[in-house]
Amino acid sequence: MKLDGSVVDELITKAGEMMKMSYAPYSDFNVGAALLCDDGSIYTGCNIENASYGATNCAERTAIFKAVSEGHKSFSAIAIAGGAHGVVQKVCPPCGICRQVLSEFCDKDMPVYLIREGGYDEYTLKELLPLSFDLKISDGEF
Ligand code: THU
Repeated sequence: MKLDGSVVDELITKAGEMMKMSYAPYSDFNVGAALLCDDGSIYTGCNIENASYGATNCAERTAIFKAVSEGHKSFSAIAIAGGAHGVVQKVCPPCGICRQVLSEFCDKDMPVYLIREGGYDEYTLKELLPLSFDLKISDGEF
């Protein structure tokens, strides 16, 4: 589904703004995400690091977990911005764990907007995670 251009702009603006909320004293790599829910509401997130390193939460998962914890389970787009020292240069593609978490809730054709200096690149979730683990297509029992 093609999204309205103004909604895409809003997602991109909010993802960029969320980089300022990032808590990244260990990597100094700041990430922001803005997630569009099917009802039109937008949830944002930033990366939140931890001295243990392993307990760090990515910006994308912060946004998804915020949204799901408030009753949203269906999403139509996500925008992601990231860069060292809070400056966006190249795109910041979501890590493997975040791709799998997105695939839990999002259609394979959901657009993922990766922000870079001067604009953004658009992918689908399927392009980023072509063969995601899914109990429905594996042998798993629910
Ligand atoms: N990070 C994200 O927030 N999202 C990603 O998809 C990739 C990585 C964060 C985690 C960590 O705080 C920093 O970027 C450097 O890895």
